[in-house]
Amino acid sequence: MFSINNTKKVIHLICAARPNFMKIAPLYHSLKNEDWCDVQIVHTGQHYDYQMSQAFFDDLGLPSSHHHLCVGSGSHAEQTAQTMVAYEKLCLEKDKPDLVVVVGDVNATLACSIAAKKLHLKIAHLEAGLRSFDRTMPEEINRIVTDSICDYHWTPSKDANENLLREGVKPKQISLVGNIMIDAYCMMKDKIEQKEIYKKFGLNKQEYVILTLHRPVNVDSQKCLTEILEKSSAINKQVVFPVHPRTKKNLEAVKEIPKNLIVIDPLGYIDFISLVSNAAYVISDSGGIQEETTYLGIPCFTLRDTTERPVTITMGSNQLVNVNNLLNKIQCPKRGFVPPLWDGKTAERIKKIIREELYR
Ligand code: UD1
Repeated sequence: MFSINNTKKVIHLICAARPNFMKIAPLYHSLKNEDWCDVQIVHTGQHYDYQMSQAFFDDLGLPSSHHHLCVGSGSHAEQTAQTMVAYEKLCLEKDKPDLVVVVGDVNATLACSIAAKKLHLKIAHLEAGLRSFDRTMPEEINRIVTDSICDYHWTPSKDANENLLREGVKPKQISLVGNIMIDAYCMMKDKIEQKEIYKKFGLNKQEYVILTLHRPVNVDSQKCLTEILEKSSAINKQVVFPVHPRTKKNLEAVKEIPKNLIVIDPLGYIDFISLVSNAAYVISDSGGIQEETTYLGIPCFTLRDTTERPVTITMGSNQLVNVNNLLNKIQCPKRGFVPPLWDGKTAERIKKIIREELYR
């Protein structure tokens, strides 16, 4: 049926770390049966524990990655450099794509963009244009550099378009496509709603809190982590705390874990979102959780000074907090509204753009 030269265009979807898998899954499923493209998943290997990676592939119905770069952990320079070398090798020796799709703001987003651009490959950044304006965050550097060299900028909200235009990106390179994380939720909604995982922990709906922490500024210093946990002990609810591997080592050194804290291993996507959907509120330093809670109308208190996702504050259920004002702020939760185009149809919009661009 397909007849544009009868050559399928090869599309690489790059993923590396936990939040990336929810972003590539809707796009993979939307493209996998199209006769005009050959969509391939490239996993750089930044996250490798079962619960940080394969659990998400299983939950989201993703096949094994077509290419695995086995990069693993390391300093920022090591991880970025190793990813660049491995991805360049893949493109040169095995499989040169017609389009590279990078998502979010992890080290692989930056590394694969640089490697691909120097091979003159076309790059699209999904979740482009977000800015925290805090250059001490590694993710901000990854976002700025990626956006400065990619060809297509697919944004989740109007503020991202404005940031890109201010930085000199041409309007025709920018498409407001909506929020791909919401596509992942909509895709898995039935399974999430059936799960009721809170019962497994002996909890009641709306009567518990979720805490997640993994930002270096909050968890790399034992003092900061201890302070946050001390504040959590003053919350008059049970607090479920799925512990990111980065947080684990410092948590082991904390002398006294508050009695109302339920410390658990990281959860897969369905379990985690099911737990969030039924929580009273969430305390977190994550990027993606700010968006997921906004969509679900669950109050979110983000333990950071800045956010690259301001729409979750202006429209959504998110508030920035610090360790000193946390206990006051949780007295005033808000539910907010869902931003425009966070409707589960982002992957379809992107598919249309890709086809038009690849066969122009
Ligand atoms: C990375 C991303 C961050 C994202 C987060 C989501 C960058 C710069 N950071 O941070 O933007 O929000 O993922 O989780 O790309 N580790 C394991 N098992 C794993 C993965 C990591 O034990 O499967 C441990 C390693 O000791 C590693 C540490 O966790 O050194 C941190 O992992 P890393 O991928 O470097 O950064 P994250 O903090 O996960």
